[in-house]
Amino acid sequence: MNDVLSSTQKKAHELANDNAPEGTLVVADKQTAGRGRMSRVWHSQEGTGIWMSLILRPDIPLQKTPQLTLLAAVAVVQGIEEATGLQTDIKWPNDILIHGKKAVGILTEMQAEEDRVRSVIIGTGINVNQEADDFPEELKEIATSLSLAAGEKIDRASVMQHILLSFEKRYRDYLTHGFTPIKLLWESYALGIGSELRARTLNGTFYGKALGIDEEGVLLLETKEGIKKIYSADIEMRSL
Ligand code: BTN
Repeated sequence: MNDVLSSTQKKAHELANDNAPEGTLVVADKQTAGRGRMSRVWHSQEGTGIWMSLILRPDIPLQKTPQLTLLAAVAVVQGIEEATGLQTDIKWPNDILIHGKKAVGILTEMQAEEDRVRSVIIGTGINVNQEADDFPEELKEIATSLSLAAGEKIDRASVMQHILLSFEKRYRDYLTHGFTPIKLLWESYALGIGSELRARTLNGTFYGKALGIDEEGVLLLETKEGIKKIYSADIEMRSL
């Protein structure tokens, strides 16, 4: 556990380059340059959340790495429920929401060599004990914390422990039995499957009905032009 890091994700990349073994976990009490998806900033105040990055070295082809993001989301949902009793939902691919507000974000990054995975780094940011006023103005309406939802202070160590235990079980299961058991669990926690969505990707914005995820963990969107595979996007559910 580090008191302060610029980003646990950055540190984990450095350790992975230095051959750190699978299972190496980098944790910080505060990040000064926490990174979110799509080059966003991740607010990581001191003492309020869980900011951690896990190094994995799975022997899987590159196109299967999105599955690990979904596996991590399942482990987070289960770990939070076990530690706090709170029920959370997954918004594809990897946001964890409570009553529609974001409490957890997951950033999966990969180091690859030709077509093989060298390492996968799963960065998880969990808002645990923030008060409403701790969030910056632009996040106040869309972010929440476990303690705001539970109405009491939450023990960060217990949440982390339950998530890591759940991750370890799910990961072993995945390496032995493949993605299908994870896919079923993920779908049971997912919001918006069967609904109309807007998916903003780096290659444009697409509208359509979310059909589900495929065997690789990619979102299938039924658009007017046909079924489109969405690998990474910001999703907005549309009420029609
Ligand atoms: C998202 O945009 O939703 C993903 C946020 C991921 C934040 C976590 S906090 C721990 C790790 N270190 C980082 O710099 N980012 C991830």
